[in-house]
Amino acid sequence: MSGRGSNMSSIIKTCRAFEWPIEVLGVIADKKCEATVNAEKMGVRNKVVNREDYKPVEFQYRLSESIKEVNPDLIVLAGFMVILKEQFFHDLFHIMVNIHPSLLPKFPGLNTHKRALESKETVHGASVHSVIGPVDSGPIICQGKLNIRSNDNPESLGIRVLKIEHMIFPMAVGAVLSGKVRLVDDKWTISNHLNDSWYKADFKENYDFSDCGFSS
Ligand code: GRF
Repeated sequence: MSGRGSNMSSIIKTCRAFEWPIEVLGVIADKKCEATVNAEKMGVRNKVVNREDYKPVEFQYRLSESIKEVNPDLIVLAGFMVILKEQFFHDLFHIMVNIHPSLLPKFPGLNTHKRALESKETVHGASVHSVIGPVDSGPIICQGKLNIRSNDNPESLGIRVLKIEHMIFPMAVGAVLSGKVRLVDDKWTISNHLNDSWYKADFKENYDFSDCGFSS
């Protein structure tokens, strides 16, 4: 985490609300921020590896060591404003997911809402994806979409996209950890038993999971 941590809160709350057998082992931030304060309030172990205390390479090393100490099945980046170096994270990337506020591969990087408006997009949204290779790339797990309104500005669009993020990110975390979606040959695919699951019934209406084959 690096800031507000609203996606983090949504993931923790969703895991608890659905009583998923998922344990949030810890929250790590690169500075003291709203996210660590909220993690504390929710009773989740949290730690700051303060970026300003270290040279960049040592920071990355300490960060990777802190994650390895926790030994998670999945690492969730949510608004983490650090580009992770292959050197320290190559053995963790395969269990790492991120959320990005655009319909990737459109608009990687910053200021996505402004850029979507400037490009006269009619549809915008958010993507959950694996962290492999360059920034905001990696196989897409799922995307949530919305129609851009004629009176939208970057702020109004950002508010609506964030609502989508708060729903698709927990769903993606649940789907990955339960094995409902699997990374096969660098592509997220749906497990056969998905047809019987809550996931389809509850979220088909609102979310487009077509990037991992979830369409019918
Ligand atoms: C979100 O918009 C996310 O897509 C982007 O950074 C923002 C983080 O917000 N990567 P929050 O910290 O989860 O509130």
